[in-house]
Amino acid sequence: KLIVAATCALAVMTGSVQAKEWKDIRIAFDVPYEPFEYKKPDGSLTGFEVELAEAMCKELQANCDFVIQSWDGMIPGLLARKFDAIMSSMSITPERQEKVLFSEPYYNTPGGWFAKNDETTDPTDMDAMKGKIVGVQRGTTMDTYVTENMSGVVEIKRYTTADDMVLDLEGERLDMVFVDYPVGEQTLLNRDGFHEIGQPVKLGEGVGVAMRKRDQDLAEQINKALTKLKNDGTYDTIMKKYFTY
Ligand code: ARG
Repeated sequence: KLIVAATCALAVMTGSVQAKEWKDIRIAFDVPYEPFEYKKPDGSLTGFEVELAEAMCKELQANCDFVIQSWDGMIPGLLARKFDAIMSSMSITPERQEKVLFSEPYYNTPGGWFAKNDETTDPTDMDAMKGKIVGVQRGTTMDTYVTENMSGVVEIKRYTTADDMVLDLEGERLDMVFVDYPVGEQTLLNRDGFHEIGQPVKLGEGVGVAMRKRDQDLAEQINKALTKLKNDGTYDTIMKKYFTY
């Protein structure tokens, strides 16, 4: 009885309730964001993060629901309890850490610059960049980077989906795009007519699963599962399927 009372007192003091074991987890993806998450021709979801989420859920013996959420509503949707975790190539940044809790990083992605072959401007050359039209996905680390470093130099076009941005690059309504490197590699470098310009830029401290701050118990479970998958080779197998490096 004494032990129970003491435990309860401790729980009250720390403001925590008994750690919950999560058996139902709703995970959000912004689709398409190839190779992280996209749809197969039959409409089912696939990609690096989708397979990693599947392996994670199996490891946790949890029922997972995959929810499609546009990027601009990710953090609001999480906080409004529409889902419990975000796995959408979300980079770990101090600004986001004020609102959400991140798992250990499970990937690293720099931002990459991509353009049509006839566009060869070095993105760090601010004189040459004057007046260039640059596309970014709204609310991403790439958006923050160009907004902070290139406002007044370039014209920034912000897109709700990475897909629409790529379409505008094809249609020459943009001079270049700044996007998570693997996305540019998959959707542009694999085709004729597009190339990379300049150097990739490190943004954020890796990519993690984002959760509500109060769900420490979920974060612990997820971190444990990720460590297990890294140690038993599952993570590497999935990684090799989707990334060339
Ligand atoms: N890594 C970038 C960021 O954290 C972009 C992520 C966009 N992800 C997506 N699924 N659309 O801001």
